[in-house]
Amino acid sequence: MNQNQNGKENRQEDALTNRQGHKITDNQNVRTVGNRGPMTLENYHFLEKISHFDRERIPERVVHARGAGAYGYFEAYGKVGDEPVSKYTRAKLFQEAGKQTPVFIRFSTVTGARESSETARDPRGFAVKFYTEDGNWDLVGNNLKIFFIRDPLKFPDMVHAFKPDPVTNLMHPEGMFDFFSNSPESIHMATFLHSPWGIPANYRQMQGSGVNTYKWVNKDGEAVLVKYHWEPKQGIKNLTQAEAEKIQATNVAHATQDLYEAIERGDYPEWELCMQIMSDDEHPELDFDPLDPTKLWPQDQFPFLPVGRMVLNRNPVNYFAEVEQAAFGTGVLVDGLDFSDDKLLQGRTFSYSDTQRYRVGPNYLQLPVNAPKTKVRTNQSDGQMTYSVDFANESNPHVNYEPTNLGGFAEAEKEGKDHEPHYNERLVRQRIERANDHKQAGETYRNFEDWEKDDLINNLVNALKVCAPIIQEKMIEHFTKADEEYGRRVREGLANALKEMEQQDVTSSPKADEAVKKAEDMGH
Ligand code: HEM
Repeated sequence: MNQNQNGKENRQEDALTNRQGHKITDNQNVRTVGNRGPMTLENYHFLEKISHFDRERIPERVVHARGAGAYGYFEAYGKVGDEPVSKYTRAKLFQEAGKQTPVFIRFSTVTGARESSETARDPRGFAVKFYTEDGNWDLVGNNLKIFFIRDPLKFPDMVHAFKPDPVTNLMHPEGMFDFFSNSPESIHMATFLHSPWGIPANYRQMQGSGVNTYKWVNKDGEAVLVKYHWEPKQGIKNLTQAEAEKIQATNVAHATQDLYEAIERGDYPEWELCMQIMSDDEHPELDFDPLDPTKLWPQDQFPFLPVGRMVLNRNPVNYFAEVEQAAFGTGVLVDGLDFSDDKLLQGRTFSYSDTQRYRVGPNYLQLPVNAPKTKVRTNQSDGQMTYSVDFANESNPHVNYEPTNLGGFAEAEKEGKDHEPHYNERLVRQRIERANDHKQAGETYRNFEDWEKDDLINNLVNALKVCAPIIQEKMIEHFTKADEEYGRRVREGLANALKEMEQQDVTSSPKADEAVKKAEDMGH
């Protein structure tokens, strides 16, 4: 034992060092000429400490910046519903009942910045990394089962419309509704988002979904279309706007806190993974396209088939190293799992690893949270922050290329027949045919309970009353196409809200004046 300068007892094995391993004997005083300065430039410990601090932040995720993570395991049932899972997929993690695969999960909000409020009306990210015996599989999902758009070309515009105004840096519902009003495919998701389903009470009591359509492939190379859904054993709980505002008044991180504390006290959250399965074809009998991520697959025709469960039982030790630097991507699949032709999914698959090479660095897959638990054998090398060398193979470390006669890595044996879909189409820029943008939005509205409908109308009216009349008009038209009552209630609610604003004379801005006038012209 010795005494440090604060007079506290310190064990020598805990002695502070710098990153060169040099012991630090004074962490309170910089080196100066006399005790009043000036400082000298060879203050190595100070310069290292400050310059590392200057670089502590990495760019936040362009979306899903605020998040919370946890570790756990996935346990397979060995079957999907009542059938052996091998009929549909050869993916090893699903085959044996009781087989456990370690997982890391990151929940998130989407639009807000890294320290923004977790009570936001926003989809929630639900990204799971499975460390399987065949390498990693990432299932990068959301809580809601559908998405705003179906073409990835629209994603940057959509995110710009949802994020703060580029001039004022203030949140601007007008941007979001401007985008919705001109993107009819978004009306279904906008309906969920403005209902209580748009504010899950916490991360433990919400569903998850892969959203996009994927494929499962069996040992004969035969494929089916699938959707993935996580059902929480804790039940589902959503918040009204008023309930959310109450929480936000005192806590902007309630969901992170709830997850962390539940795991610390041993109350491990659990979800069941359920599949929806469709044969791999266009399904002309349906009034929607199975590759359209703005649509639900009706559960009476495509029931949820349980395939396993996930338990979260360990908190990360360091938030930055494990949660902030975690990197998930839709391209990260294992043998027996495949992409579908869902355009949104294919666009996403480029975006994730591209942004992660920028956000975390080109060697992001060498970080412990991102690296597979299996041995990595590539001939990729070098780049910033190289931490380990994949190509140091035992037989001949000089060979960092393939093919070779000199003992480098060789291609792996195939474990089943390839799935080889056939295409015979013109190369085009076209929307899918069965867009059917309003029908399911109407069904979703009618399926809401009365309190959910009331909250939905209230939230839409509050957002729309600050929007330009042209946007109000177009949105009412969309809601009416979805369901006559839905459109009528928004129209009536908006007319009342605009009248109230007029009476209170809070409409002094030229834009609001114009909105009221146009609303009157529209017969509100
Ligand atoms: C995060 C792109 C659609 C779920 C991200 C990130 C990008 C991105 C660039 C940041 C990744 C990072 O920095 O590590 C896109 C594009 C989309 C799209 C281009 C459409 C074309 C979706 C959809 C879902 C989704 C449909 C839900 C199924 C997520 C989740 C995260 C995320 C959960 C956070 C992952 C994490 O926790 O690290 N997305 N996204 N995204 N995205 Fe998407």
